[in-house]
Amino acid sequence: MFPVARPRRLRRTAAIRDMVRETTLDPADFVYPLFVRHGEGIRSEIASMPGNFHLSVDRLLEEAAAAREDGVRAVILFGIPDKKDERGSEAWDDEGAVQLAVHRLKEAFPELIVATDVCLCEYTSHGHCGVIADGVVVNDESIELLARTAVSHARAGADIVAPSDMMDGRVGAIRAGLAEAGFSEVTILSYAAKYASAFYGPFREAAESAPQFGDRRAYQMDPANADEALVEVGLDLEEGADIVMVKPALAYLDVIRRVKETYGVPLAAYNVSGEYSMLLAAAERGWIERERAILEVLTAIKRAGADIILTYHAREAARLLK
Ligand code: PBG
Repeated sequence: MFPVARPRRLRRTAAIRDMVRETTLDPADFVYPLFVRHGEGIRSEIASMPGNFHLSVDRLLEEAAAAREDGVRAVILFGIPDKKDERGSEAWDDEGAVQLAVHRLKEAFPELIVATDVCLCEYTSHGHCGVIADGVVVNDESIELLARTAVSHARAGADIVAPSDMMDGRVGAIRAGLAEAGFSEVTILSYAAKYASAFYGPFREAAESAPQFGDRRAYQMDPANADEALVEVGLDLEEGADIVMVKPALAYLDVIRRVKETYGVPLAAYNVSGEYSMLLAAAERGWIERERAILEVLTAIKRAGADIILTYHAREAARLLK
């Protein structure tokens, strides 16, 4: 082949590289995670996730406005309740921090896509994603409460509800609950293949949701499994999910690719807190270039097959793409 075949011809100038580029990022791909709590005037930085904040609703509106200026079109909300209990009852409280925030966000920015994380772990005193009986997270009672939570988010005006608990049958329960309450148009983005990962560490500090005993391995997936991800995704689609997600992203690019090739449905990937904070920490030490690394990581997730990327880099990346 050589010297006739010379791939370097297509790398010679920036214009040629632009012309043959296979993957391009667009701010419309990004979903920006935000943490909301009760109160007023609160904007306190999360130590484990520099550049991210616990926000009261008034400050959340300012953050959303600034994110929109940067080009961000979608947000996902996580709630921090004032008090936690065994069952996580603030999760489905119509006056909960998330519900109030959704209402105000949609009022202020009707065209902003507002998604909500549907889970109990931020709301339960034990930090697990469902109800506990005899030291075990019980499935069927938990999905009732998750459905109630999703309906409450829909009532507040959420465009998308995103269950992240990994209970069996929760998408079906949520789809039925939404239909019964008159919200059949609400999108379900399911955390379909969510792994029991070490990369959620910084988030658990942010959401104050670390399990008080044991771990999440009896409901989140084993990092060693990929065939099983296809089973999980298949079930969620049958149960009524519109968008499925693989989480985390970077250590699971093969799973993203297989899900995309197998199902061809809208696919999200979560560039999780550990991936974010790891990059920032290395950049802070001068070991990697922050901006190039951010765009490289996001491009890789998209190249693997994700259409949508949940990322704490959303604002910065959107600015870089301008
Ligand atoms: C709640 C939830 C978690 C994340 C999103 N939703 C934490 C967990 O499962 O422990 C992680 C997000 C991140 O690390 O950025 N179930």
